[in-house]
Amino acid sequence: MLVFHLRAARGRARVAAVAEALALLHDLAPSAPAGGPLSERGGVFWVELPERHLAAATARLPRLGYTTAVDRLVPATGAAEVRWRRRPWRLARLWTEDAAGHREAAPDRREFLFEAGGGPVRPVRGYRGGGGPLTRRGLPVCDARLLVNLVAPAGPGRLLDPFAGVGGVALAARAAGWTTVTADLDPGLRHGLGRIGPAHLVADARALPLRSGSLDAAATEPPYDREVGPLAAQALEELHRLVRPGGAAAVLCAAWQAAGLRATAAGLGWEATLDCPVDRKGLEVVALAWRRP
Ligand SMILES: C[S@@+](CC[C@H](N)C(=O)[O-])C[C@H]1O[C@@H](n2cnc3c(N)ncnc32)[C@H](O)[C@@H]1O
Repeated sequence: MLVFHLRAARGRARVAAVAEALALLHDLAPSAPAGGPLSERGGVFWVELPERHLAAATARLPRLGYTTAVDRLVPATGAAEVRWRRRPWRLARLWTEDAAGHREAAPDRREFLFEAGGGPVRPVRGYRGGGGPLTRRGLPVCDARLLVNLVAPAGPGRLLDPFAGVGGVALAARAAGWTTVTADLDPGLRHGLGRIGPAHLVADARALPLRSGSLDAAATEPPYDREVGPLAAQALEELHRLVRPGGAAAVLCAAWQAAGLRATAAGLGWEATLDCPVDRKGLEVVALAWRRP
């Protein structure tokens, strides 16, 4: 039994954190039983898996987004920290997030090659877009990891981010062993995104020059501004063409975009695997994930 500690900044998105952990460990026979140790404390959830998979599971924990530490429940001989299933247990720390490393990988710290207004290409530290309605960028590392982990059962293989921005999803996907394909309408991003992965397209997410069924998964964050209208749902239709049967998709969208995405996905026959509100420091967004039958 493993006890997962939720990231405080995503503490209300427990359902998303559980789905993330189960998807990341999908091939290691994980389950999330309803009642678990420390359930009265809050801020934790628990995943059970066979002892023989413990080493493989531990190796993947540093890829988690919404969890910052994981303990293993071991039988206690002396004073028990926890009583559960009528036995005494203690917690043994398996993994703790490297908080400083996580901070350095954040979009407001990391370097990105950027070409502004046809000028020279230069490395910019902390580039997060121009502040205009369509150029706000910079998905937090924990959210990028969440999206990539949600589609883990379809991979690793080829993963597309059709609204790639400054590449948060692509970086998390690359670290998890995916071959990344990125697209963004803004040509100023092509050097930075091309450095993250060579398969980059300056293109519209609604009509991408890629072969039907040529992708295993997609993970993305569309622009949130209302002026984009049904862009996110239209992009999901294009993903239906591109993602192979059995593939998966995950999207972090603004709350107002969720209904359109749900309806489009249902119309395409996609199976929902997650639909969870996420409070991003007061910004109400929704994490959605599907499997393409
Ligand atoms: C919210 S940002 C993505 C943030 C990204 N996940 C990151 O980590 O930086 C949305 C991106 O969509 C791009 N975009 C806007 N309309 C687009 C379209 N029709 N097709 C492709 N990209 C588009 C914008 O240029 C912007 O970079």
